[in-house]
Amino acid sequence: MTADNQPRKILVTNALPYANGSIHMGHLLGYIQADIWVRAMRSMGHDVIYVCADDAHGTAIMLRAEANGVSPEEQIKGVQVEHERDFAGFGVSFDHYDSTHSDTNRRLSSEIYLANKHAGNISIRPVSQLFDPEKQMFLSDRFIKGTCPKCQADDQYGDACEKCGTTYNATELLNPRSTLSGATPVEKSSDHYFFNLPNFTEFLQQWTRDEGRLPVSIANKLDEWFDAGLADWDISRDAPYFGFKIPETDDKYFYVWVDAPIGYMASFENYIKAKRPELDFNDYWRADSTAEVYHFIGKDIVYFHALFWPAMLKGANYRTPTSLFVNGFLTVNGEKMSKSRGTFIKAETYLKHLNPEYLRYYFASKLSDKVEDSDLNLDDFVAKVNSDLVGKVVNIASRCAKFINTQFDNKLSDTCAEPELLQKFIDAGERITEHYENREFSTAIREIMALADLANQYIDEKKPWAVAKENPNSTEVQDICSVGLNLFHKIMVYLSPVLPTLASQSQAFLNVENFNFDARFEILTHSINEFTPLMQRIDPKKVQAMVDDSKENLQPASTNKENKKESKKVENTENTPFISIDDFAKVQMKVAKVLECNKVEGADKLLQFTLDVGEEQTRNVFSGIAKFYQPEELQGKTVICVTNLAPRKMKFGVSEGMILSAEKDGQLAVVLLPDSMVAGATLA
Ligand code: 2FM
Ligand code: ZN
Repeated sequence: MTADNQPRKILVTNALPYANGSIHMGHLLGYIQADIWVRAMRSMGHDVIYVCADDAHGTAIMLRAEANGVSPEEQIKGVQVEHERDFAGFGVSFDHYDSTHSDTNRRLSSEIYLANKHAGNISIRPVSQLFDPEKQMFLSDRFIKGTCPKCQADDQYGDACEKCGTTYNATELLNPRSTLSGATPVEKSSDHYFFNLPNFTEFLQQWTRDEGRLPVSIANKLDEWFDAGLADWDISRDAPYFGFKIPETDDKYFYVWVDAPIGYMASFENYIKAKRPELDFNDYWRADSTAEVYHFIGKDIVYFHALFWPAMLKGANYRTPTSLFVNGFLTVNGEKMSKSRGTFIKAETYLKHLNPEYLRYYFASKLSDKVEDSDLNLDDFVAKVNSDLVGKVVNIASRCAKFINTQFDNKLSDTCAEPELLQKFIDAGERITEHYENREFSTAIREIMALADLANQYIDEKKPWAVAKENPNSTEVQDICSVGLNLFHKIMVYLSPVLPTLASQSQAFLNVENFNFDARFEILTHSINEFTPLMQRIDPKKVQAMVDDSKENLQPASTNKENKKESKKVENTENTPFISIDDFAKVQMKVAKVLECNKVEGADKLLQFTLDVGEEQTRNVFSGIAKFYQPEELQGKTVICVTNLAPRKMKFGVSEGMILSAEKDGQLAVVLLPDSMVAGATLA
């Protein structure tokens, strides 16, 4: 409550997920964290609005749509449906879920840009960049590969060498090629629009040090950036680009990171338009707003949220966020999520096998206000959920309910037999709610579990089953079990932000109206309902099945460095074992001419090739690339064929080799050689 005892007006957002990939465990850590906080703050009586949206723009999404053979609009629509379904599946209680590709966001983005332009915060200058002459588009660093100018390592991206760590400009790469078409990029210049971040240096230095604005560890990190000096931010992209056109230009688009955070405002505006017309957008966003605005974000996107975003808002005379709540990354079983190990677990896959509340509880038991990485250790997950939730919490109710249900006609005792014990549980509420508010969820959970231990101890000592045996229907049994159920009631009220479904089942069983934190003060003496089992133990076999399912469920990750977070968090960088030069020498690769290329009837994925590899006989090869090529696109081309692979008998014939292609992030390209190369030449 505020000083005058009014509910606080709070707007909460989560980072907006890109509209080109599925929600997975790494995402869920942040969404579940925010949702628990939102539910706790609502439970304290505050007016909390919680919005999110899909982050719908950018090259990655445009290319993903192209690869999927749909328009970008169709692509983002389909993904949004999936995202909303997954979030609902995990009980994430957004008041509104939108898309950054909305009219409201277009208007707000233009308005914020123009205000900054008029305030002198935008400049224009030419930038020379690599351009793909085949795709007719500028290439961001992620779409360029070549040889490192420093150490000569091949196959390095356009910004940095993964071998020697050197950073460089893409134009410095030797033998650069476009990863989209394979073409050699050319340098080309075009005008770019810049947001003059240095204009805000002083403001940001102060802002990032304001009390409670940012975790201190992050503010310290930002100091390094201030020391290095802030640079202008390139906010435009040339066509083709899926995004909003920059006002007063013909062919320039806002870089996705411009309109993404503005999407927070747009989603909020669309929410009030659709569902809360009595609210005023300006009450929350004008410079002197007294509402509180919190962004939950991952640590990899701090730069955007702690520098560009407050500066853009300030430049357009809007308020800035109250605080940024920053979470670390998720590892599974102590390692980066991995598709081959089956630990890249999608939300959808999890929900097929397990109750979402298990995960909510496990994450809560790990999360604090620190910017630390969390580990989802699957064995520990099973052990903790089974021991805490099933073994301790639900057990309290199941031990007491049957006596009240069967021997006392559902009626609890009129007075509480253990007022002191109960008071202890009520008093704990003050600390627990504070821990929630401070996002010290692991501490809150520890306190709650200590209460559950106390409740079980009480029941162990009083042994209602023994008393009932000796003296059925005695009020002593009723008293003990009523105390037990009152203790259970407090515990479930405290756990309700974490376990909304279990809480509402418990509420129904306990037959109470209010389950907010202030319900803890109530002593239950009324009639309850029939007890039904509230939660099953996790069967480790189901966890294994989920892992197995995730192994089969390979989905390419995002395609663009703009979608850095996703790939950084989850990219499948297994340690590929080294092979010896002798191993490598065993592979025979030859230049091959595609004499024939045809579809294979009855096998949608396959193309059939007749190859000239410089031998007397042509070779017949099947390749599973029909999704990416029409036969005529490859007819007559010069490719590379592995010629000493053991022949493989397939349903449609024998495959006598393998055509080399490169695959990443759902894109595939056959390795094409210049036509001047002679069939049969050996490659090494
Ligand atoms: O890193 C990401 O996944 C971005 N899509 C987050 C955007 S948050 C906000 F600024 F919109
Ligand atoms: Zn290098």
